[in-house]
Amino acid sequence: MNTFSRIGFILAAAGSAVGLGNIWKFPYVTGENGGGAFVLIYLLAIALIGLTIFIAESYIGKEARTNAAHAYQLVSKSKKRAWRWAGFQIFTGIVILSFYAFIIGWILNYILLSFSGFPSDIKEAESVFTNLITMEIGTQILFHTIVTLTIIFIILKGVKEGIEKLNLILMPLLGLILIGLLLYSLTLDSFSQAIEFMFMPDWSKINENAILAAVGQAFFTLSLGMGIIITYSASMGKETNFVKSSIMVALVDTSVAIVAGIIIFSFLFSAGAESTAGPGLVFISLPLIFSTWGIFGQIVGCAFFVALLFAGITSAVSLLEPPLMYLMEKFNMTRVKATIIAGTFFYILGIVALLSMSKSFGELLTFFDKSLFDWLDYLTSSIAMPISGFITCIFLGYFVDQEELKAKFTTHVNIRLYKVWLVLIRFVVPVAIVLLFLNKLGVI
Ligand code: PHE
Repeated sequence: MNTFSRIGFILAAAGSAVGLGNIWKFPYVTGENGGGAFVLIYLLAIALIGLTIFIAESYIGKEARTNAAHAYQLVSKSKKRAWRWAGFQIFTGIVILSFYAFIIGWILNYILLSFSGFPSDIKEAESVFTNLITMEIGTQILFHTIVTLTIIFIILKGVKEGIEKLNLILMPLLGLILIGLLLYSLTLDSFSQAIEFMFMPDWSKINENAILAAVGQAFFTLSLGMGIIITYSASMGKETNFVKSSIMVALVDTSVAIVAGIIIFSFLFSAGAESTAGPGLVFISLPLIFSTWGIFGQIVGCAFFVALLFAGITSAVSLLEPPLMYLMEKFNMTRVKATIIAGTFFYILGIVALLSMSKSFGELLTFFDKSLFDWLDYLTSSIAMPISGFITCIFLGYFVDQEELKAKFTTHVNIRLYKVWLVLIRFVVPVAIVLLFLNKLGVI
């Protein structure tokens, strides 16, 4: 099997983690939840919950060196076949990919728009976005197809030649664009206002929904609960310090989210715009601001959406690798055959999901007040991901050989750190997940 180089693993895992979640979603949920206090809770959620599970998935993958379903069985103490069911998370990933891919398609649309000019009044900006989603089915399918083919092209080249190379190129470029945009936002008067908004906690804005959103975001942004980190870690060099690598990835991921937030809020506040625009923040409010900067705005806007595209592609590729590894190992398939099967599945599901938001098919594809797209998002992010996270905690906390676990950890980290992690994985994180889950379902 191809293994990642050390930096290759970190870049690929960071490429998976840094995605639309960081540049699109993090700023808008921060905006919706009032800024600073939410950011603090988010940082806590990353450090305590996200990183704990990230390290756990990394351990499972590195030890098992196989696909995310067989990995649980192999690492378990009992070696019971039933542990393979924990691999259902592979399925969660491919469902997410179905809509992740067409959202990347929207970004392509905005990159093109940066050449012809962004909409210059709010009505127009809103209608560009809503028309794209509700009426322009052909455009969306075209972009969805382009994105799908790109993902397939990269993935067919394999772990080393495809995934590692892609991240080796795109991640530094993404970093450069973000640094450029950050430097530019530094020149705006609104920079200090953005800093204040993001780092001065106003606790009155925090309620349980904000906490839920922070934990959900921590899961999503670190690509947890989908077998991705397990799968990537299976190709990690044997000597790699998986704890250190996990911390590095979490640091890169968090830095990108924070920097993206600072850039976006500087831009927004420079035009006196609201921070609470929700999902439309990046697709409606920002283009409007770019349009007021003339040709320079087109350049800044193009750079911004290209950064979003790079972040999205490296994440999308990571969503496809777990099902591929599973299909190849379980059914002895070639990479090409596995790619065709998994690719066709997410491509078609994506089309049905994007149709569920359209004017023409919306009603047909809405069930119990939620469109198919909303259902897929809800079932994956709110139900499947927390369940996988919970299973992983309980698994490592109680169903693996604890002596071996301790030995493997302590070759890389000191025993105190290991003990902290053990308390988190055994008690703190599972209890937190259960409470949040019940709260989300309205039980408590
Ligand atoms: N972590 C990515 C993001 O923040 C999204 C993602 C989720 C990618 C799950 C892979 C798996 O956008």
